[in-house]
Amino acid sequence: MTVILTLETTCDETAAAAVTDTLEVLGSVVASQDSLHRKFGGVVPEIASRAHLENILPVIDETLRRANITLADIDAVAVANQPGLAGSLLVGLMAAKTLALVLQKPLIAVNHLQAHIYACKVAFRIDPFPCIGLIVSGGHSSLYRCCGAIDFTLLGGTIDDAAGEAFDKTAVMLGLPYPGGPSIQKAAETGNPKKYAFPRPLLNENRLAFSFSGLKTAVRYHLFGPGESKGERVNLPLLPQEIADVAASFQEAAVDCLVGKSLQALKETNLHTLCVGGGVAANARFRQKLETAVREKGYRLFMAPPSLCTDNAVMGAIAVERYNAGLFEPLDLDAAVR
Ligand code: KG4
Ligand code: ZN
Repeated sequence: MTVILTLETTCDETAAAAVTDTLEVLGSVVASQDSLHRKFGGVVPEIASRAHLENILPVIDETLRRANITLADIDAVAVANQPGLAGSLLVGLMAAKTLALVLQKPLIAVNHLQAHIYACKVAFRIDPFPCIGLIVSGGHSSLYRCCGAIDFTLLGGTIDDAAGEAFDKTAVMLGLPYPGGPSIQKAAETGNPKKYAFPRPLLNENRLAFSFSGLKTAVRYHLFGPGESKGERVNLPLLPQEIADVAASFQEAAVDCLVGKSLQALKETNLHTLCVGGGVAANARFRQKLETAVREKGYRLFMAPPSLCTDNAVMGAIAVERYNAGLFEPLDLDAAVR
């Protein structure tokens, strides 16, 4: 049995996992920094990297404890070295390099985006490739042709904001707590998704791309009016039912775009399998609508459980593919923000 220790510090979660070559998860820990970033309404990069520094060693220790192994049982060390926030990436990278050097074990690089799709393989223990991969997170909204676990070609992505960013910023406008995605989902539960016809940018255009900034602006104008610079809400007070209706209508529009473009990608490429990853893939309404739409068309859909959609180190099990192919990195491996 081969055991790989995987580290993930691309954004604001400090995570580690011990996984085997048969994709068994021996232990996994995710230390969230949500409470640190909440008052700023978004991730503050400097705070994130400092928190990673404090968290990384306890997170590794706890992962080994849960897996009931020691460092001596590790056969390789893997780390997500791209894309992400520079300072955050460097903490995981330096920890991984140090472990690889001290233990004299190979170092493996993990692409965070490919890992988000690989979470589907880990969750279902089925090889989903070739497939369309949709990655929807705080930093990305992209569709890929995935010929293999580490063989991705970009088909299209957002021309402005990422979907998660739009959820987070809309939540701020509605006075909902960070992180915005789960808050919008919760508020939307009691809202009417048809109350407001917010735009679905690019949905009816041939272009395989997303755009979420116009949707976000439509919510802003709805709440503040076009003269929002005065900072005065048009429809004060913002009653709980209005918050719920705006959240539900926004969520419905965002979900329609994600579902529509995923189906378009499947149709255009003649591929029959869709894998979805990234924090926004944890959204209950998105999962429900995507499942219905994909089933109707007879495609295969793999969506990891919500805990494997948001950032985690289990998805770093993609390192198994590189381990088996002998794709190891020198100790001067760098981080790449894109
Ligand atoms: O993949 P992820 O954990 O980190 C990045 O790589 O960006 O994604 C984080 C994003 C945030 O924007 C967060 O608001 C969003 O995923 N998110 C959600 C939900 N859970 C997390 N968006 C909508 N609904 C959710 N339930
Ligand atoms: Zn992510």
